[in-house]
Amino acid sequence: HMKGAIFDLDGVIVDTAKYHYLAWRSLAGELGFPFTEQDNERLKGVSRMRSLDILLEIGGLEYSEAEKLAMAEKKNHLYVEYISGLDESELLPGVRAYLNALRARGVAIALGSASKNAEFILEKLNIAGLFDVVIDGNKVARAKPDPEVFQSACRELGLEPQDCVVFEDAEAGVAAGKAAGMQVVGIGKPEVLKAADLVISGLHEL
Ligand code: BG6
Ligand code: MG
Repeated sequence: HMKGAIFDLDGVIVDTAKYHYLAWRSLAGELGFPFTEQDNERLKGVSRMRSLDILLEIGGLEYSEAEKLAMAEKKNHLYVEYISGLDESELLPGVRAYLNALRARGVAIALGSASKNAEFILEKLNIAGLFDVVIDGNKVARAKPDPEVFQSACRELGLEPQDCVVFEDAEAGVAAGKAAGMQVVGIGKPEVLKAADLVISGLHEL
């Protein structure tokens, strides 16, 4: 019986992957190597600094921590420029209807995202008010697949892990939900999200 629903943001609520991709590709371009959409798959669900490490690994380049911090900041600046134009029309199909249906059933709702831009995005999409709890990349120390983000959301909802269901599009996120002892609904392809308890193509299916 689901008492709490914990949603990932990027890829579940909104398709921001394309904006992350454009921003990372621009950085790669400046550094002098190509970065494809297929490469971008590896960055989904992964924290900003870890994403940069993967990108630099693809380019075969190494930099100091200080240089990497500056690069991550530059990428984020560009990303924030892209997402500053976001509005409700970019909510993925079924999101608002499903969140409203859960609220009507008395299910508590949390966000569990790796992004440090989560609050900004929720405001842009005009859905911040639908969440009882928001745990994002500013509030956790350990990135998915570590369960911290979901454990923390569950605790703030005042619930037990077995009462919570996680909605995730990334392999690392599904692993994090399972490691937290929760039921996990995967959003995407069953071959990728093997560890999920159920896989659907989007919240419009529910
Ligand atoms: C995750 C995205 O939700 O957040 C990743 O799937 C992203 O692609 C990560 O790198 C961190 O996001 P941000 O907004 O803090 O750079
Ligand atoms: Mg995601």
